[in-house]
Amino acid sequence: MPAFISSAPGKIILFGEHAVVYGKPAIAAPVTQVTARAIVQPDPRGAPGSMHIQAPAVGLDAFLADLPGEHPLATAVNGVLSTLGVSRPLACSLRITSTIPVASGLGSGAAVSVALIRALSAFLGRPLSDEQVSALAFEVEKLHHGTPSGIDNTVITYARPVYFVRGQPIEVLRVAQPFTIVIGDTGISSPTAIAVGDVRRLWQQTPAYYEALFNAAGQIAQQARQAIEAGHPETLGPLMDSNHALLQQMGVSSPELDHLVIVARQAGALGAKLSGAGRGGNMIVLIQPANATSVSEALSNAGAVRTITTQIIGR
Ligand code: PMV
Repeated sequence: MPAFISSAPGKIILFGEHAVVYGKPAIAAPVTQVTARAIVQPDPRGAPGSMHIQAPAVGLDAFLADLPGEHPLATAVNGVLSTLGVSRPLACSLRITSTIPVASGLGSGAAVSVALIRALSAFLGRPLSDEQVSALAFEVEKLHHGTPSGIDNTVITYARPVYFVRGQPIEVLRVAQPFTIVIGDTGISSPTAIAVGDVRRLWQQTPAYYEALFNAAGQIAQQARQAIEAGHPETLGPLMDSNHALLQQMGVSSPELDHLVIVARQAGALGAKLSGAGRGGNMIVLIQPANATSVSEALSNAGAVRTITTQIIGR
């Protein structure tokens, strides 16, 4: 029996993070330069029904039966088994590798889940549909932070730019004119749960203020959608700048993110903003393709630990 291998990309949120948790639209796109990979293969020496799980990047080497039920990998595996009604699979080994930095807003958790769910369901002979894959990955996202919007598992499952509204059917974006984004990593690890929890507390304290910010971010996402579908990506720059200002007012930026955003603008960016939960992690920059090297160098010189240049394309 062969090995079953599946990969899933990272992602960036182009517009609308945080507001999306409160029902506003957001736009996200896959980042194929980084990936999570899952390999499932039979383990002829394993006890019947046993699953040996290895994820070297996080120092995990254990049997499924020994992991706590709420462990993200166990939750993903058990979700597949119960969806397929399998109680004792053939003894197998599952190996997870990933080039997506953890806790940096690039969707590493969701990408691991999606790759694992696809590889395991294929190994079991019944590959799950995209809808099922995304729904199971969403259950794992809830462990990372209690109130995920579902945008990460959606964009990573479909691996296409999406216009996303919580609880509504996925809308794949038509990107009329591809555009180029440079991603700059502050190198500061920022768990999504903390930023999302802080925003929730602040929203509860001053709901009118926060709802105005969320509404404004939602309107920006709508305008951005029109610009992307009409083939005017250059007009996204000012929208990114405005979205970053709103995220600052929500309290989720940081001195390091703000510094990289300013440096990017000085280096000729069309627009820049933090991307994802904030406080650390990544920021994104809209550029003319010819400026990719100079903007990346400016970010690195200003302290970015990694830069990725990616194209946003879509059908
Ligand atoms: O996982 P991150 O850091 O890209 O953040 C996800 C985006 C949030 O809007 C902050 C949370 C969510 O569930 O949508």
